Amino acid sequence: MASRPRSSGLFGVLLAASVMTTAGTIAQTPAPASGDVTFARDIAPILQRSCQECHHAEGVAPMSLVTYEEVRPWAKSMKMRTALRSQRGAMPPFFVEKTIGIQKFKHDPSLSDEEIGKVAKWADSGGPRGNPADMPKALEFDGSDKWTLGEPDLILKSKDVTVPAIGPDHWGDFGLIPTGLNEDRYVSSVEVREVNDIPHDKSVATVGGRYVFHHMTYESIVEGERASSGANEGGGSWPIHEVGRNADIFPPEAGRLLAAHSSLSLNAGHLHSNGRETKGHLEFAFTFFPRGYKPIYKRSGVRLGDGINIDVRPNESGQELHAYSVLQEHTKYITFEPHLHAPGVRMCLEAIWGHNIQTLNCVGYDHNWVKQYVYEDDAAPLLPKGTIVHLIGFLDTTAANKNPVDPRNWAGGGRRSVANMFIDLGYSVTLTEDQFQAEMAKRRKNMKSRNDYDIGCPLCWAPPTATATPSTAAVGK
Ligand code: HEC
Repeated sequence: MASRPRSSGLFGVLLAASVMTTAGTIAQTPAPASGDVTFARDIAPILQRSCQECHHAEGVAPMSLVTYEEVRPWAKSMKMRTALRSQRGAMPPFFVEKTIGIQKFKHDPSLSDEEIGKVAKWADSGGPRGNPADMPKALEFDGSDKWTLGEPDLILKSKDVTVPAIGPDHWGDFGLIPTGLNEDRYVSSVEVREVNDIPHDKSVATVGGRYVFHHMTYESIVEGERASSGANEGGGSWPIHEVGRNADIFPPEAGRLLAAHSSLSLNAGHLHSNGRETKGHLEFAFTFFPRGYKPIYKRSGVRLGDGINIDVRPNESGQELHAYSVLQEHTKYITFEPHLHAPGVRMCLEAIWGHNIQTLNCVGYDHNWVKQYVYEDDAAPLLPKGTIVHLIGFLDTTAANKNPVDPRNWAGGGRRSVANMFIDLGYSVTLTEDQFQAEMAKRRKNMKSRNDYDIGCPLCWAPPTATATPSTAAVGK
């Protein structure tokens, strides 16, 4: 990656000027004691790992958190936002509750209790700079940092749209983008981002204000073929793009097909005005598994949610929604993606097997940030057929939740943003008996004793069956 000079603009100059006074005062204070929390030693590494992906000059966030001068004025605000942990407004926006359920996710930027404590202590002790020699090497931001998962193999661009400063929402079909592929390729990750002419500065402080594409559902099709191409092999519809959503990573056993001669069909997009005339388009970035790769797991059709029994009462916290489904096949959950609308504040997913009820995860929900959670391969729920999966949505229409436009109104289910949805948009794969046993055998190896258990694997301690692989049989020793 080549480094590139960055101009911070007028705002940056003013900010730097106002901080210099503070920095001048700090320079006269004694060097921090070894137990103190300093920017150079303690805070900079946290920012590099969990914040700068968005908080750099060209990033999606309203301010850069790279240099000491840039970060220092935000100390109190950083303390407040990081302390929210999994609740609406938390930074980084990753809302998994750490006190319950599975804790291993891909590309997880969340802070540990210790790190949250350090940010707080640093803010409370006046934000000392510390010894510059302790600073980690600065990350370099150039064009390549725009994809959170690294350089893609294929980038497809939609046509530009211009959205007026004020206008009605627009729903529609945004046409086809030919992939240009002459051979079938299997996708290991896909990331969608909006590129537009909105300035990357403090003048736009909300996520919605920085974009015009509210969402886009799309699929890959081969023109002339009736059904979506490769729907059975993992192609067909792709995970939805939504504002603030993070990238999809498909596990090695379940890559998705992007077929030869296919096009992306951007068949249902939603544009909204954001107060300034905006020109923008979407970019779809794919990374591929090597040529010759074939997936071994089938995509599952499990959908969990309920669009009918949604009854959102005015001015009431602690409202709950419930949905259930019985798994017809052994199923491995790849992602969990809570989808609610403005009143939503939390969602939990449970697995009920016999008399055991396991809470797989509870996550906070902030309708400004549509997040999905991609399980690590060795922690993803491994549920036997017959498991009852139970989804619970939590709603708050009191003043404590600022997202509903008019919480005094009753609201039901529906497709409009003022109506409500309650779905797990995450995806899963089905496993044959052999695949299921082999996956459980791998899990058992990670379990230390009979007192250990694997959340999300209710049969991990069941006696291995006759079809189990030899490695399974060796576990008892
Ligand atoms: C995925 C991108 C992303 C990541 C990662 C991220 N932020 Fe943010 N941050 C934003 C955006 C966008 C906003 C403005 C909208 C909002 O407040 O939700 C914001 C707002 C903030 C604010 C409030 C700014 C204000 O105007 O009051 C603070 C403070 C903050 N972030 C700190 C952090 C810290 C500290 C981290 C890492 C521990 C972090 N952020 C990680 C994107 C991000």
